[in-house]
Amino acid sequence: MSPSDVSSAAPTNPAPAPSQSGPDAAAARAPATVIVFGNEKGGSGKSTTAMHVIVGLLRLGLKVGSLDLDSRQWTLTRYLSNRAQTIKREGLALPMPQHVFLSRSERPNRDEAESEDKARLEAVLAKLRSQVDYIVVDCPGTDTFLGRLVTSYADKLVTPVNDSFIDLDLLANVDGRSVSVQRPSVYAEMVWEQRKVRAKRDGGNIDWVVLRNRLSSINARNKIDMGQVLEELSKRVGFRIAPGFAERVIFRELFLRGLTMLDTFEIGESGKPRLSHIAARQEVRGLINALQLPSRASEEPADKEQTSVS
Ligand SMILES: Nc1ncnc2c1ncn2[C@@H]1O[C@H](COP(=O)(O)OP(=O)(O)OP(=O)(O)O)[C@@H](O)[C@H]1O
Ligand SMILES: [Mg+2]
Repeated sequence: MSPSDVSSAAPTNPAPAPSQSGPDAAAARAPATVIVFGNEKGGSGKSTTAMHVIVGLLRLGLKVGSLDLDSRQWTLTRYLSNRAQTIKREGLALPMPQHVFLSRSERPNRDEAESEDKARLEAVLAKLRSQVDYIVVDCPGTDTFLGRLVTSYADKLVTPVNDSFIDLDLLANVDGRSVSVQRPSVYAEMVWEQRKVRAKRDGGNIDWVVLRNRLSSINARNKIDMGQVLEELSKRVGFRIAPGFAERVIFRELFLRGLTMLDTFEIGESGKPRLSHIAARQEVRGLINALQLPSRASEEPADKEQTSVS
């Protein structure tokens, strides 16, 4: 799919709709859990980790909706489009989510643009909620109206952070000498605001999970400091810390085919699995478990070894 295909202002659904087991399927289904991947810091790993969680849930036999709000890059949409091409070209039976990408309103008047964005987002969420078990949302790496709004609908908010104090600066101001938290910063304040919006709307809660991403085996001092600051901050602003993802080539090298290591194991492409691939798969499973998702009846799981969603 070319970028021009995704530039339309209307929400579109390029992926095949999931099969329903009958007309009452939507009525019988509990509303989907919304899992938002957000961080206003660009390049922290939102799209990569979102894609891996989507495939992880699909391979548990669960119905997944995916929503891309990054109308500048469309990374998740392009990842899934590459996957659809691979299915066609190579005849592989890969599970697909029900995907939607949503452009920002192009109305010049800000109030009108925001109310159009709000109406479209709510329509997309309402539709997906009745059709799938989980909705995975990929946010842009900047502050946008849609990004803020969708955060208020998150049941789970996942914030990947690279192991760097530059990334952490969006979550908290840290004192350079004592390496301790001075005050929550812009992104943590935004989440706090959206928690209030959410509580007022339906009394619901946003379960916020921070994921350390691209962890390296070197630079131990930085790693320890980051760990301590995150621990302190988690208590102050109310998030949980998930086991992290290491820096691994396998997290990025399968993008052009739209695959993840969870697929290559299943389709027998891994040959003799490399230890780093097994470790990466374990990291994805660790994140899914750490999310503590409500249980859903799965169809025949494609990933037979996988632990179930709690
Ligand atoms: N654990 C990892 N190991 C190796 N590379 C990674 C890992 N996580 C992410 N990357 C790479 O880091 C880069 C940024 O990742 P990604 O595009 O997922 O971030 P993002 O937060 O979605 O960025 P943006 O804010 O621009 O949307 C990409 O090149 C991706 O392949
Ligand atoms: Mg992205």
